[in-house]
Amino acid sequence: MKFFIDTANVDEIRDLAATGMLDGVTTNPSLIAQSGRDFFEVLKEICDTVDGPVSGEVTALDAEGMIKEGKTVAKLADNIVVKLPLIWEGLKACSALSAEGIKTNVTLCFSATQALLAAKAGATYISPFVGRLDDIHIDGMELIEDIRTIYDNYDNLETEILVASIRNPNHVKDAALIGADVVTVPPAVLRTLAGHPLTDKGLAAFLADWEKSGQKISS
Ligand code: G3P
Repeated sequence: MKFFIDTANVDEIRDLAATGMLDGVTTNPSLIAQSGRDFFEVLKEICDTVDGPVSGEVTALDAEGMIKEGKTVAKLADNIVVKLPLIWEGLKACSALSAEGIKTNVTLCFSATQALLAAKAGATYISPFVGRLDDIHIDGMELIEDIRTIYDNYDNLETEILVASIRNPNHVKDAALIGADVVTVPPAVLRTLAGHPLTDKGLAAFLADWEKSGQKISS
């Protein structure tokens, strides 16, 4: 399973890329606004920082406008993925951009039929939002299971499931159990994934015993 990071904060991206765990980056208009930076400038910097796919979202609401914006965004770098909203106009734009070989990420997916349409439109990625479904007491992970089953039923549906709106480590674990292709994780959640209190306790005990032995590992 690939790990993307859901942020437009370049310092965070650089820091987490150094772990070797980062396969890509997703942004959205809210994250770009939070960064306080120019859309094109920050996206270009992110693309130069990571080798993997970097999603940048269009903001037009009609297909023609989305295609125009998508083509402009796609020119930024080879690893750009054009993010489009899951509305009919977004699906039309997805078909057109995909036909031209531009990678696409269809976002704001909240149902299995939406995901089926995105795959038929040739989306590279579908982004179902699990956290926002959980927020309204609908099990977000059930949606991931449904999409996995549907995509696996048809050999010609090659869209990757990119689990978005991840809020906690259990979302990451469940996405991996279901066999999602990608998770996009906020930096704070990604940092918690390696942590366990028993790891910390065990390490402290090992180091205390080592100290008592008086030994050193040197080359
Ligand atoms: O980038 C899309 C998605 O990951 C947003 O997550 O936490 O705002 O629901 P959230």
